[in-house]
Amino acid sequence: MITSYFPKYVALFALLVLSVGALDTFIAAVYEHAVILPNRTETPASKEEAVLLMNKNIDVLEKAVKLAATQGAHIIVTPEDGIYGWVFTRETIYPYLEDIPHPEVNWIPCTDPQRFGYAPVQERLSCLAKDNSIYVVANIGDKKPCDASDPKCPSDGRYQYNTDVVFDSQGKLVARYHKYNLFAPEIQFDFPKDSEFVTFDTPFGKFGIFTCFDIFSHDPAVVLVNKFQVDSVLYPTAWYNTLPLLSAVPFHSAWARAMGVNLLAANTHNTSMHMTGSGIYAPEAVKVYHYDMETESGQLMLSELKSRPRSEPTYPAPVDWSAYAKGIKPFLSEQLDFPGMIYFDEFTFTELKRNAGNYTVCQKDLCCHLTYKMSEKRTDEVYALGAFDGLHTVEGQYYLQVSRDGRLQSRSGAPLPILVMALYGRVFEKDPPRLGQGPGKSQ
Ligand SMILES: *[C@@H]1O[C@H](CO)[C@@H](O)[C@H](O)[C@H]1NC(C)=O
Ligand SMILES: *[C@@H]1O[C@H](CO)[C@@H](O)[C@H](O)[C@H]1NC(C)=O
Ligand SMILES: *[C@@H]1O[C@H](CO)[C@@H](O)[C@H](O)[C@H]1NC(C)=O
Repeated sequence: MITSYFPKYVALFALLVLSVGALDTFIAAVYEHAVILPNRTETPASKEEAVLLMNKNIDVLEKAVKLAATQGAHIIVTPEDGIYGWVFTRETIYPYLEDIPHPEVNWIPCTDPQRFGYAPVQERLSCLAKDNSIYVVANIGDKKPCDASDPKCPSDGRYQYNTDVVFDSQGKLVARYHKYNLFAPEIQFDFPKDSEFVTFDTPFGKFGIFTCFDIFSHDPAVVLVNKFQVDSVLYPTAWYNTLPLLSAVPFHSAWARAMGVNLLAANTHNTSMHMTGSGIYAPEAVKVYHYDMETESGQLMLSELKSRPRSEPTYPAPVDWSAYAKGIKPFLSEQLDFPGMIYFDEFTFTELKRNAGNYTVCQKDLCCHLTYKMSEKRTDEVYALGAFDGLHTVEGQYYLQVSRDGRLQSRSGAPLPILVMALYGRVFEKDPPRLGQGPGKSQ
């Protein structure tokens, strides 16, 4: 039957084209940007002032994009709030927003800038991508008008979204993602009704994208990896480091390792806000990172990554930690447990009093077991083992079990003194329903 041959030919042809264009590795770039902030004001700036300020930031980003491109980078990620900062109300951010269309419209703003109204920021980002033949990832603000026919429409007649955009190496808009999990202080933006799962294919693998606080949640972060099977995640963030558990570099690199994907994390840089810590993380290693509390400068970093880490022979097989955890017997030791707060969560702790030992600490359903040896037990240091199983409720609500199962092991010791070692786990099923669906709600 002649008809059945035809689809086979098509499939064969498509396969050949794919394999010719495909790259086994690619060069990723991230830029930690010290954002030039606008004046803190109650009165909104004019559109001209807003564009002027955004252009100052894009001038800096442009240097980073050019430098990355000359060093062979295929894609560059710039930070959340990287083009106008974070000091806004709902009204004062408005002049900074642009109408960002859905990528299905097939738009190259650089060659057709007026097609969707005045969009100077999208035009410039698109030209940066096109002129330097590099994918450019940026975080900007989207505005979408609405009216009384929509019962959720904010009273000022528009939705305002924290939005990531990606322009491909021809300058075409290929991705638009509205941040789903806004962080509590982001009163300038609205929560989108539904979580978007934004992916796009390139010759160097399948990409997904989400923003900052999204990393704590199931949607869209875990879904992009488990269901959509992305190879690499683009991650603009404006993350302020909170010790001991929420420091950018360890947290983000651990997420990449646990999820088995590449993560390209670009943080904003502002030392007084403790914002620093960007990096390029592969499932098997931290490829490059930057952490700088000394200067107020930005920093570009590049690294070569596997395009499809899942198809590598070295890709780690999944481990059944639950089976391992259930087989563990608690250590019995004479110890005094005490409560202690970490970022508003009450942990149960026990002090590690000697230079070697075995301890178990439990809270609710969770027990943590530790076997350790220190090179020296110094009198000016205190180490403790702690467990937490509960709902975190400050600056967002999310259920933590630090951690239901899993194992951290270092047989050869650590190259540097250890500040903290943690198994950080989320129990998505125990989260409260999602809050803050309305305009301007911060909690
Ligand atoms: C910030 O203030 C300066 C001086 O007061 C002014 O020249 C500038 O236009 C303002 N910038 C914005 C974005 O409002
Ligand atoms: C860092 O952020 C704070 C708070 O938004 C701001 O007041 C300060 O000027 C920023 N620092 C720099 C160097 O821009
Ligand atoms: C800890 O437990 C292991 C067995 O799991 C034992 O070999 C070791 O001696 C114990 N260490 C201390 C300091 O009690």
